[in-house]
Amino acid sequence: MKYDFDTPISRRNTGSYKWDVAKENELPMWVADMDFPVAPKITEALFKRVAHPIYGYQSEALPWKQSYIKFWERRYDFRFSEEEMAFATGVVPTLSSAVRKLAKANGKVLIMTPVYNIFFNSIVNNGRTPSCSELLYDGEKYSIDFEDLEKRMGDPECSLMILCNPQNPVGRLYGKEELAKIGELAKKHGVIVVSDEIHGPISEPGTRYIPFASVNEVNRMNSITAIAPTKAFNLAGVQTSAVVIPNEEIRKAFLRQLNTDECAEPNVFSLPAAISAFEESEDWLEELNQVIARNRKITESFVKDNIPDIKVIHGQATYLLWLDVSKLGEGEAFASFLKEETGLIVNPGPEYGKGGEHFIRLNVACPLSRLQDGLNRLKNGAIAYKKKQNA
Ligand SMILES: Cc1ncc(COP(=O)(O)O)c(C=O)c1O
Repeated sequence: MKYDFDTPISRRNTGSYKWDVAKENELPMWVADMDFPVAPKITEALFKRVAHPIYGYQSEALPWKQSYIKFWERRYDFRFSEEEMAFATGVVPTLSSAVRKLAKANGKVLIMTPVYNIFFNSIVNNGRTPSCSELLYDGEKYSIDFEDLEKRMGDPECSLMILCNPQNPVGRLYGKEELAKIGELAKKHGVIVVSDEIHGPISEPGTRYIPFASVNEVNRMNSITAIAPTKAFNLAGVQTSAVVIPNEEIRKAFLRQLNTDECAEPNVFSLPAAISAFEESEDWLEELNQVIARNRKITESFVKDNIPDIKVIHGQATYLLWLDVSKLGEGEAFASFLKEETGLIVNPGPEYGKGGEHFIRLNVACPLSRLQDGLNRLKNGAIAYKKKQNA
């Protein structure tokens, strides 16, 4: 490996949302950012920008758009033009603006659950109601319930779907046929698809992340795609992302809203960080994906060999692992017990909506020693929980 992913770096006292923990012994493996230092070229690019002592208003400088265009075409065969894309401060701001502009007032927004919990906030905080199509779970893997999905798309109150591609927290990469079918049904029922693809570049070597809009012209012309370097290159605190909207009518309407919401302006670090990620740090991303695959494998075999009451759902994307704890009971109660008893902090599955009741989510984007510490705590927590239940 060219890069070091295994030397632990303390993030305490840096104002980190994840590491701002209450007790000394707590180990946070929840919030979706990584405990790895960013690619050195990104740090260099940011230092270079800091060294220029004027931090005035920033425009969408040209190499920034080209860095996205080339990266997504080169890696994922997703083609779009400069005109079809724009800056957004984050993916969540994009989702919220889309809800405000494109979902019917007081109407419904379709999502497939279990899903990233903030989707619910973007919908509910903007006066709409989530219409939840629960993914089908066969005890091993997830698939889309197309019958239910179509029924919900046919609801006249529903004009928008937020898709999570790949799906956080279950780690599913959707296939071309599935994405085409979602696109076809959405078009048929007049539903616009906002596809949140923030986790796309974090996918297991040998698998393929397929952008929703790259599948065919129907999907392309009926969608907003939110992409960013923030998950894959660990830049969440920089706040930098982009939207791709090939349909001119949707683009005009959406960008007006994004502007009104004051989420369309980059800061001076947003663009250099993204350009360096996409243009100079691809080899780092390749190694990252290998490290995540290693951590996933270690977690899967550790749990299989040592914690018979927990099952890891094998995903192909994201660094967030979805653990079935149904043999122990509710995810919420088990997650609180784990924190109290062992200091390990995970996300309780119910945060992710229908279908998450008996799950927890574990973030494995950390150095090996930290992962091993977390897994031992998980094992001890499961044993103690069972003992308490049987007492
Ligand atoms: C699916 C998904 N979308 C969006 C975000 C956050 O995006 P941003 O920080 O760009 O608002 C996250 C963060 O965990 C996420 O998992």
